[in-house]
Amino acid sequence: MTRVTAVPARSVDDKPVHSCLYPAFRARDRRITTIEGLSPAEGPLHPMQEQFLAAQGFQCGFCTAGTIMTAAAKCCAMGAPMERVLKGNLCRCTGYRAIRDAIEGHRHVQEDLPGASVGRSLGSPLGPALVTGQARFTADEPPIPDLLHLKVVRSPHAHARVVAIRKEAALQVAGVHSIFTWEDVPLHRPFTSATHDDYHVDPDDTLMLDRVVRFVGQRVVLVAADSEQAAVLACDKIEVDYEILPAVFDPEEAMRPMLRSCTKAKTPPHASPTRSAMCCGRSTARMAAWPPGSRKRTSPWRTPMPRTGSPT
Ligand code: FES
Repeated sequence: MTRVTAVPARSVDDKPVHSCLYPAFRARDRRITTIEGLSPAEGPLHPMQEQFLAAQGFQCGFCTAGTIMTAAAKCCAMGAPMERVLKGNLCRCTGYRAIRDAIEGHRHVQEDLPGASVGRSLGSPLGPALVTGQARFTADEPPIPDLLHLKVVRSPHAHARVVAIRKEAALQVAGVHSIFTWEDVPLHRPFTSATHDDYHVDPDDTLMLDRVVRFVGQRVVLVAADSEQAAVLACDKIEVDYEILPAVFDPEEAMRPMLRSCTKAKTPPHASPTRSAMCCGRSTARMAAWPPGSRKRTSPWRTPMPRTGSPT
């Protein structure tokens, strides 16, 4: 299966194109190459695939197919600025330095020697699957039959309190199964949206749905329906009243400590009142106030992440 991404993921007559934008009829009688066919199935990898493995020019690998296809077709226009070569290739997690290193042919991984791997920079075990297009992502999976469709009503405000939500009309839309608001979410079950190797450092500061919205686009209402159309229609019929609260739009001002409303109910008994009101959940300083041995998470959504050895 060819992954459809928002970046060039295939080439037509050796010219990279955006899979998601390229009309199929234009490809008739033309030579199409995808990441899966860049190198022979049983043969050696394309040099650009090898370079991405050597520099570990990926993290999650979602953009890797498009980046390699673009680089493989254009790297030969050497001398062109990298930004120009990769124009339209968006990476959400690697940060481009590793990608640049890969295209420039730098090597960051060391040889994986039996019995001598500790302390060495080894490549991600998933690397070969990522550079050949074999790794599967959510979008590669066919939809499950009878799956419900979810649509979200989001906040138009940077900071506001939800005063009322009227969902009666939305519930009348044919095909709507359920509508969820902050009232359906237990206040004592926050989670963290951050994902670091040491999961102890990320505060559980986010509720699935919150009564206070803290950025434009925050989830306010969830609608589950039989079809996408029904869910969209129901979202249009939902009315939300907000009490607008002061917001910070200046990055320097945002760096200053500030008070914010907090949804967490639990506070370590010996944490100072000021600390417990600062920021959200557990700030680093507040983390230090927790007694040793009490930091272990029990959140059902978080499990310790194994280290993969990826240098990125
Ligand atoms: Fe994850 Fe580029 S988007 S590696």
